[in-house]
Amino acid sequence: MFEINKRDGLARLGKIKTSHGILETPTLLPVVNPKILTLSMEELAECGAQGIITNSYIIYKNPELKEVAEEKGVHGLVNWSGPIMTDSGTFQSHVYGEIEIKPEEILEFQKKIGVDIGTVLDVFCEPETRFEQAKEELTETQKRIELADKNKGNIFLAAPIQGGRHLDLRTKAAEMASTTNAEIFPIGGVVPMMEKNHFKILAEVIIAAKKGLDSSRPVHLFGCGHPILFALATFLGCDLFDSASYAKFASRDSLMFTWGTRNLDELEELPGEFSAAPGMTVKKLKGLEKKERQKIIAKHNLRVSFAEIRRIKQAIHDGLLWELVETRLRASPALMKVFDVIKNEIEWISQFEPAYRYKTPLKTGVESDIRPIFTSLTNSFDNGNMTHPYFGKIPTYLSETYPFHPGLLQEDLEGWRMEEWGIERVKVILDYQFGNGIGDLFAKGNTELVISRKTKRLRNLLLDGKHIVSLSHRRGLFILQEGGAELLHKHSKMPQFRVVVNPETAEFNKNGKSVFCKFIEDIDSELKIMDECIVVTPDDELVAFGKLVVSPKELELGQQGMAVRVRAGFEN
Ligand code: GUN
Repeated sequence: MFEINKRDGLARLGKIKTSHGILETPTLLPVVNPKILTLSMEELAECGAQGIITNSYIIYKNPELKEVAEEKGVHGLVNWSGPIMTDSGTFQSHVYGEIEIKPEEILEFQKKIGVDIGTVLDVFCEPETRFEQAKEELTETQKRIELADKNKGNIFLAAPIQGGRHLDLRTKAAEMASTTNAEIFPIGGVVPMMEKNHFKILAEVIIAAKKGLDSSRPVHLFGCGHPILFALATFLGCDLFDSASYAKFASRDSLMFTWGTRNLDELEELPGEFSAAPGMTVKKLKGLEKKERQKIIAKHNLRVSFAEIRRIKQAIHDGLLWELVETRLRASPALMKVFDVIKNEIEWISQFEPAYRYKTPLKTGVESDIRPIFTSLTNSFDNGNMTHPYFGKIPTYLSETYPFHPGLLQEDLEGWRMEEWGIERVKVILDYQFGNGIGDLFAKGNTELVISRKTKRLRNLLLDGKHIVSLSHRRGLFILQEGGAELLHKHSKMPQFRVVVNPETAEFNKNGKSVFCKFIEDIDSELKIMDECIVVTPDDELVAFGKLVVSPKELELGQQGMAVRVRAGFEN
């Protein structure tokens, strides 16, 4: 039900396939209160909503709403034909204290009214709750998740992760929830943290949950509705957001931006991001009647939210999400503190880093220095002969190879020059990419470089007539070919460079079919997502080669789907 199509670190672009349509993640589900409609369904869709979230408890408690919902279903009640998620009443228990409903009662009701995604009635754990009580509450939540999991019928089940501020409980909660068949994992109990601008603990809680969650399923951040947080939350591996904030903020004349919130009273000018009403000015907006003004501001808040989501998606395509997150974190002192969390967790985060990105990484400030790409490669060459502004001395031969390729830094690179293609350059890149010695290995014999006559770029390396590697000139790194895969296999030991697959499915890989996560028995833990790799059986028979499209850590966390995009197999 969840297909991941692209990643950047922990962030992913995916699709949740519900019976009323697809949610392309990351996305925001605007909260629809069936009693008070701030915006119409058409307006929500216009702003960019693909799905909505509403509250089954509110519907259940209101006799008129309940009757319509039972008769026409939740889609008929709110008049939305796309995906609908419902919450369970837990948030009402946080706001008002006790609520009167049993977990199984609200689950049955969600099934009855035909929701696409229903939520377990979890126990809302407050950030102040002490460890012992938080643990007890968690036991109860898990019991309810397991019971709901058995009786969910054909709705998708959202199993909330609680645990308050206790990070070990969060990880434990995530591990327990992952043993069920729940389709979605919302991280709960975080609204009070966001309301108090406690973003440091919010980031810690998300990371602690992610450490225990099955990475093949989508993660929802409950009540996260401020666009200032979307890039960070996506960066930490959240896929879905929901919030009533767009409407709540509007009701007190507050406008949301990716850099903060402004009350209409404080504004002298409408920032460029405002697009909810053409020709609008601060003066005109202030002069509007309350209801109309509220609607325009709610629209603004949602439009800004969805624009930010599109910005994040583009950043994931570009491989520039770190850069975007850094910029967003500089918006306030409370957000700046999140840099400390990233620094403390850098080892864990680095396990999801790719072998290369589409665009060259950029430093946006001193905080960028903690990024694995900069710490792992700075001043790491003995044979450097040109100075890179980020990486210190690097060999000129790597001047067109990721991440040294100048990108936007062209003017800052001292002595940067295009190198001619020769075997020495090829060897330096091979050593950098695959490890010392591979350059010599791939060039021992009669080498031939196939160079494009038109562009003067290297295309292929042949050795004794065999195709060893091709060059991807966009990233300046090599792509394995049959001869290279055979050499790597012959001259390295298990499990280096290897993805070890179940011998029965290896037959498919020999025919060039891709490797799927569930058939992997072992993997070289040094490999990074997007690395070139070879596919072998447990007896180390070489069956195929290609590109790894998951990180070894994700495999450990239960990732599913394609693992190696096989370029070719070795048929017997
Ligand atoms: N909405 C905001 N926070 C929560 C939470 O912790 N649980 C549920 N079910 N809904 C929420």
